[in-house]
Amino acid sequence: MNQFLNIKDISSLPDLLEEAKEVKANPFGWKSLGKNKSICLLFLNPSLRTRLSSQRAAQNLGLDAVVLDVDAGSWKLEFADGAVMNGDSAEHIREAAAVIGAYFDVVAIRAFAELKDRDEDYSEKILSAFVNYCGVPVINMESSTGHPLQALADLITIEEHKKVAKPKVVLTWAPHPRAIPQAVANSFVEWMTVADVELTITHPKGYELAPQYLGDFKPEYDQQKAFEDADFIYAKNWSSYTEYGKVLSNDPKWMITVEKMKFTNKAKFMHCLPVRRNQVVEDAVLDSSDSLVIEEAANRIVSMQTVLKKMLESM
Ligand code: CP
Repeated sequence: MNQFLNIKDISSLPDLLEEAKEVKANPFGWKSLGKNKSICLLFLNPSLRTRLSSQRAAQNLGLDAVVLDVDAGSWKLEFADGAVMNGDSAEHIREAAAVIGAYFDVVAIRAFAELKDRDEDYSEKILSAFVNYCGVPVINMESSTGHPLQALADLITIEEHKKVAKPKVVLTWAPHPRAIPQAVANSFVEWMTVADVELTITHPKGYELAPQYLGDFKPEYDQQKAFEDADFIYAKNWSSYTEYGKVLSNDPKWMITVEKMKFTNKAKFMHCLPVRRNQVVEDAVLDSSDSLVIEEAANRIVSMQTVLKKMLESM
């Protein structure tokens, strides 16, 4: 594997899941793989899980990890080609990415959608610039349009907890006070489409995901109907793709509650975290024994370590 930007960078999902199982069973089994190699974890946005799990995954492989918070500890970057740099930006991505690539063997990047210009966000301007200019393998730690490390951790968690060969997995929109990118939902759909699950997507009208992710899926606008017989409920908020970046509704009726979970087949509850309690999901669901959110977060080490292992093995 020489990059991990989205699901297209993996050759076989079943093989990757098998490898993840081996990594989880024996996390220190490849301790010398990363010897004398290094990774730069570059954050343009906040993080708790991605930041810590990526460092832990690197340590488990003997890989030296350095974290850089671009906006807090580095120069403000310019991404536009041909820009006259007489404003706030002191360094162009062409030099910055090339320099980082000269210092490290792998670069991992977090750069959220700005939710101002859909075409610009969906062009993956920042992620693509690093791929183009840094000259070393790049890992997506959540970009404008996708969060593949999260989707892989989600799928590992579903595989560990499923009771039937092809479980019913429901991606449900849930209310949130702020505009959130579509990245987690996009990747979840992308990965579940390839995985051996029966996926249902439910959200209020106006929250349809981008056609390239939605494919042939017809959203179920009745959340209760979507929940029927579900084995896994995956809650996530996202802003509108069609009315780009807008919060069209914040209807509290879409919050995940114990009453709604009763419509399911004793479903497990999932969320990528961070989650706003009693806004997205009520305490009683999150604190129940059916909540998988902590295991899901723990599997973020496994997903990153599996990707890093494959990358180091192909160097
Ligand atoms: N789920 C996730 O990516 O968490 P962080 O934003 O805290 O990294």
